[in-house]
Amino acid sequence: MTKGPPTLRLDRLLANLGYGTRREVERMVWADLVVLDSVVLEDADQRIRVTPDLSSRMTVNGAPLDPPPGFALMLHKPLGVTCSHKEQGPLVYALLPERWRRREPAISTVGRLDKETSGLLLMTDDGTLLHRIISPRSQVYKRYDVTLARPLRGDEEKIFASGELMLEGEEKPLLPVPMETVSPTRAYVTLTEGRYHQVRRMFAAVGNHVAALHRDRVGGLVLPDDLPAGQYRILNDADLALVLASPQGA
Ligand code: URA
Repeated sequence: MTKGPPTLRLDRLLANLGYGTRREVERMVWADLVVLDSVVLEDADQRIRVTPDLSSRMTVNGAPLDPPPGFALMLHKPLGVTCSHKEQGPLVYALLPERWRRREPAISTVGRLDKETSGLLLMTDDGTLLHRIISPRSQVYKRYDVTLARPLRGDEEKIFASGELMLEGEEKPLLPVPMETVSPTRAYVTLTEGRYHQVRRMFAAVGNHVAALHRDRVGGLVLPDDLPAGQYRILNDADLALVLASPQGA
């Protein structure tokens, strides 16, 4: 027998999405504020089939329901914000709607970008998907557009591709990293690992300094030109298939 979509009690679903406590969402239901398929829902105990299209079928207080659990988004991360739930200063989570910070399961970043790195950042509340994307076994390539403080020497492509580059303080060499030179001070590098400050430390190891770092692809998913810094977009199944298909250098 095939398993259908999960069901959740209406009050549990809305409470988990951050709309309020179960008592508060019960009052919203009694006030006729929750509508499914054009029918006002009267019963906070009723079970709702949690399908990915629920946001297009349910409204709360006249607005489409927030994305149901098991979703992912891409954020165009601006410079100067941190991928953390707890650190001081501006955090990526503050770029999402306020209510989403109360969601259960919580939304997390899929890996991290440094505070001073911009670009394509995935976020999800789906732990299985998150681990699938970050696991080195999945070979999801992440491409970085690197601007350098000094001109390239010329041997960087060979050194990064060797699989022998050892970063300071580490015991295992890096997996081979394809690099494509764009200009004397600009290159693309494509990683499958995600070691701490990896791109910055790779260029430091060859006597250079990263002046600007921007991630433009995760797998086959490209940061769209029409997604400004600080904005996000919910991913659909086709986007996720692109992430996981991960054609290197595509
Ligand atoms: N490598 C870095 O040095 N920083 C990032 O944010 C990502 C990869």
